[in-house]
Amino acid sequence: MEIRNRTAVVTGGASGLGEATVRRLLGFGARVVIFDINAERGKALVEELGDNLAFCRTNIAAPEEVEAAVGFAVEKFGGINILVNCAAIGIAGKIAGKKGPHDLQEFRRTIEVNLIGTFDVTRQVAFKMLGNEPDENGERGVIISTASVAAFEGQIGQIAYTASKAAIAGMTIVIARDLMGDGVRACTIAPGLFDTPLLGSLPDEVKTALGKMVPFPSRLGKPQEYAMLAQSIIENPMLNGEVIRLDGALRMAPK
Ligand SMILES: NC(=O)c1ccc[n+]([C@@H]2O[C@H](COP(=O)([O-])OP(=O)(O)OC[C@H]3O[C@@H](n4cnc5c(N)ncnc54)[C@H](O)[C@@H]3O)[C@@H](O)[C@H]2O)c1
Repeated sequence: MEIRNRTAVVTGGASGLGEATVRRLLGFGARVVIFDINAERGKALVEELGDNLAFCRTNIAAPEEVEAAVGFAVEKFGGINILVNCAAIGIAGKIAGKKGPHDLQEFRRTIEVNLIGTFDVTRQVAFKMLGNEPDENGERGVIISTASVAAFEGQIGQIAYTASKAAIAGMTIVIARDLMGDGVRACTIAPGLFDTPLLGSLPDEVKTALGKMVPFPSRLGKPQEYAMLAQSIIENPMLNGEVIRLDGALRMAPK
């Protein structure tokens, strides 16, 4: 699908990988709506990047907010062609330890945001995509979700995050199959270690050490490199139903 003059929704677009994707899509002539809980950052980006960008403060784990945000995006730019799901949270906790079993509420919260939130935005946007006029290749929409290499090799303490990301990876082929008759493609990106505010609070030497774990290139990924893959998925009609690792050949150790 061509990016120019298309409308994209990017959840978590106020920061990190989502923000880099917002900037890239705008640069290629798309209109973009950010769904994010960080209103301060979202509004600042609209101020910086101009009229083809809109922000809708949205907690993706609140169904009524998602419904309103999808309505806002359709109203603002006349439809949605591209969805990039980036919003997520990470918590740490082992399945059981000396202090007790994993906190059930924390596990639920992670699933609510990362999995159910992604599912909710995807189902509602996909439904809107079905109403789009197909382009000359029969395409009505492209859906990109974000898992993690933790979907495959979750580390110690990542049980909740891994559960949410493995489910996102697993849903990919089903979304592609469910929408195969409608001209909508779906892929998932599974990033390794990227230099975003998620890692931002770590000291530089820890970031460098993390980067050295990556076989090649031996550094943290740049958010623009995620955005480059998102762009390829949108543009390449044969990419469908696949979970693509973007990790410099990194395979995570237990810790
Ligand atoms: N950075 C990495 O190394 C890495 C590795 C693997 C996977 N990922 C995944 O990539 C995605 C983006 O991560 P990032 O590193 O850019 O993180 P980030 O923290 O920089 O950005 C995440 C954004 O999501 C928003 N968000 C959080 N909860 C939300 C909610 N309930 N509703 C709406 N918005 C919400 C935050 O406000 C933030 O703007 C996430 O899905 C993350 O799990 C990141």
